[in-house]
Amino acid sequence: MNSIYHRISVRKYENRPIEKEKISEILKAGMQAPSAGNQQPWEFYVVTDREVIHKLSETSPYAGCTDKAPVVIVPVYNVSMCRFPSMVIEDMSICVENMWLMADSLGLGGVWLGIAPEKDRMQRVKEVLGLSDGWEAFALFPVGYPAESRQQQNRFDEKRIHWIDC
Ligand SMILES: Cc1cc2nc3c(=O)[nH]c(=O)nc-3n(C[C@H](O)[C@H](O)[C@H](O)COP(=O)(O)O)c2cc1C
Repeated sequence: MNSIYHRISVRKYENRPIEKEKISEILKAGMQAPSAGNQQPWEFYVVTDREVIHKLSETSPYAGCTDKAPVVIVPVYNVSMCRFPSMVIEDMSICVENMWLMADSLGLGGVWLGIAPEKDRMQRVKEVLGLSDGWEAFALFPVGYPAESRQQQNRFDEKRIHWIDC
């Protein structure tokens, strides 16, 4: 649980690869996420090809940091397989947060880069990865050994809590 308070957005990475076992641990954490009706709408592209990573970095105006990452994980989803398609964004969000926390706990750093629900970004990622019909890109998750560190901001705010006591 320490990673909840330790995880930050890491956009700078050391120039060294990540062990395959660590990537597997991150993917395992993502797939372990709860989902509506346990529908598990996800699959994952794990990209280390520099040319493809460069193309991914151009799919959103806010994805430039991707270009220097040793690995980019792209979680994708397919609503046609879902019993509760309207819940798919929630499912995918939990999945990405699980991956992010696991990356932190393994001494790695990453950042969630928003792709869905922005149609133009989704289309660009779909073209770069050659996704088949029905599959949509959810986010980019560049990950690597962190080349930046800072303390996570404290966001606790008592004023946002509304107790309704008995
Ligand atoms: C849904 C979502 C989309 C995000 N998209 C981007 C993005 O496109 N580019 C980026 O640099 N950071 C992105 N971030 C990271 C946020 O900017 C970051 O989480 C926020 O500023 C809080 O900082 P922290 O992660 O270090 O706690 C995104 C985060 C979330 C949860």
